[in-house]
Amino acid sequence: PLVHTAALVTEARREGFGLGAFNVITLEHAEAIVAGAEAAGRPVILQISENAVKFHHGRLDVIARASQAVAAGASVPVALHLDHVESEALWRQAAGLGFGSVMVDYSKLPYDENLRLTTGAVEDLQAEGLYVESELGKVGGKEGEAPLSAHAPGARTDPGEAAAYVAATGVDALAVAVGSSHAMTSRDAALDHELIARIAAAVPVPLVLHGSSGVPDEELARAVKGGMVKINIGTALNIAFTGAVRAHLEADPKVVDPRKYIKDARAAMAATVEHFLGVLG
Ligand code: G3H
Ligand code: ZN
Repeated sequence: PLVHTAALVTEARREGFGLGAFNVITLEHAEAIVAGAEAAGRPVILQISENAVKFHHGRLDVIARASQAVAAGASVPVALHLDHVESEALWRQAAGLGFGSVMVDYSKLPYDENLRLTTGAVEDLQAEGLYVESELGKVGGKEGEAPLSAHAPGARTDPGEAAAYVAATGVDALAVAVGSSHAMTSRDAALDHELIARIAAAVPVPLVLHGSSGVPDEELARAVKGGMVKINIGTALNIAFTGAVRAHLEADPKVVDPRKYIKDARAAMAATVEHFLGVLG
């Protein structure tokens, strides 16, 4: 069934498991994420990013309604999250489309601007019953961004600043920069576990790890034990999708029916989701 994000985050935090949040680009992503979660017997978050909306010619409603229907038919609890949003016109659509949460992302702006825009969005979104996540520090590597080293100290979240930011904005969850970076196709990011512990001790809200595709399994498990609650995974699914399509096309160069190879892609993504949910405990 479709459930509210807040319910899943609260349960994950209480039980001490990492809540997998996977990026939906196509309908098959949503189907695969739910199939993987059902196979693992875990709840899951389907998240749609502003970049995915751009891919759908600027429309959120079509992919959101499809994801909502997939969630409603699931045998495990599934929440819908709108991810990495800068456009106000976009986050204002969330409540009407079944989303339980929104990440407003003003992390590339100077601190004061991030604070001001986030605070305004939090007020309006919480009034509509939505759970709000935002980012402090820079995870980097988002589409259209100059690559930023995950190891650049200026990019890391400062615990004291994080505490002040959470208190001032009223956000429900905080995305932090602790060594991971978006869109990594190799799994060799080293997380700063000491920093994770310091931030977790300094802020009262659950922490969110972005760019988790590039983080090795053991590092992910350790981050969850150290206080990371929502674990965002996108690129790993696309690696699985594209790898399966490539393998199918190479083995069967005469194929024309897209169902043949997209079926393989969907199965590969589902297996990837099941694997990650096992790692997250
Ligand atoms: O918000 C989404 C994520 O941070 C996914 O990052 O594609 O590097 O796994 P990733
Ligand atoms: Zn992210």
